[in-house]
Amino acid sequence: VDLGAANTLGLACRAERFAALADLDEARRVLGEARRNGWPVSVLGGGSNLILRPWLPGLVVQAEFADWWLEALDAKTLRVHVEAGMNWHALVQALAAHELWGTENLALIPGRVGAAPIQNIGAYGVELADLLESVHLMYLDDGREAVLSRDECAFGYRDSVFKHALDGRVLITRLVLRLSTRPAPRFDYGDLAARLSPSPSASEVVAAVSQVRREKLPDPALLGNAGSFFKNPVVAAERAQALLAEYPTMPHFPLGDGRVKLAAGWLIDQCGLKGLREGRVGIHDRQALVLVNHGGGSVDELLALARRVADMVVERFGVTLEREPRLLGRALP
Ligand code: EPU
Repeated sequence: VDLGAANTLGLACRAERFAALADLDEARRVLGEARRNGWPVSVLGGGSNLILRPWLPGLVVQAEFADWWLEALDAKTLRVHVEAGMNWHALVQALAAHELWGTENLALIPGRVGAAPIQNIGAYGVELADLLESVHLMYLDDGREAVLSRDECAFGYRDSVFKHALDGRVLITRLVLRLSTRPAPRFDYGDLAARLSPSPSASEVVAAVSQVRREKLPDPALLGNAGSFFKNPVVAAERAQALLAEYPTMPHFPLGDGRVKLAAGWLIDQCGLKGLREGRVGIHDRQALVLVNHGGGSVDELLALARRVADMVVERFGVTLEREPRLLGRALP
């Protein structure tokens, strides 16, 4: 089965078998069949934070169930239950249209709801972990169904238990988020405030965030990419001090525990790499943190470019960059 259209980097990839799961019953049945046959299972969400090698053996599944419903907790607080297959931005828009606050800064993040907790999606000062109450899932190895609390998800910056102990071991089926009817705009990040009135509606925040993203980030439908290719690195205070002495304008964000987060995009940009093109892959010309596939690029070309970028940043700044999207699959058999 050709998975070429199923990943936003546009990498050529084939799966041995593929199943679109229409509902929970079908998920139970198909995963049971995979267990009986000993097929390894890979779970695909929107494919927007993945680097696919050319071959996925076994069975690839994708949740298509996408209902959502609200549960009132008190006059000002609600829960939204949302199934894994829903498009994330469609959810953000629907909640904002109801003047429900919480997800609006996460507008226009590509991908599906089920993938959101894996990397703990975040933007403009908000992370999924700030809103998430629990995650419903199925274990691939025995079909057991469970609900993980936010604590059990072990969220960190672009990190969660789903990248570690549960990596490749579960199908996420539903998220439960906590939202508020009380307006709570957060526009302390970047130039968001300048684009908004002091008391905007939730939909106005969604529109402003979407506008900022469209200006900087390439639309995967037009130019293959997986968003930020590296995490923003976190360094010890001493290293940040030393770098700031040399580069006083370097963006930096103290984390409160003595460590300092740096902007990977700035570090790469300083190496003069923005807009670089190497064969069929390259670096976006408006955001150096985004690697792009101009069409027909291979995973090897992309990883070679990423290595070159990381090597230059280490050499120049002594800072190690860590890849953000997950790598899945293997070479063709
Ligand atoms: N910068 C440059 N040159 C560049 C890119 C950035 O100088 O080519 C500077 C900017 O001027 C700014 C700083 O670096 O001072 C940070 O840039 P930006 O605000 O664009 O955000 P980012 O740190 O590059 C992170 C997330 C994004 C998220 C934005 C907004 C990570 C890895 N990336 O990017 O998330 O949308 O903040 O909150 O944390 C993603 O994860 O795929 C993603 C797009």
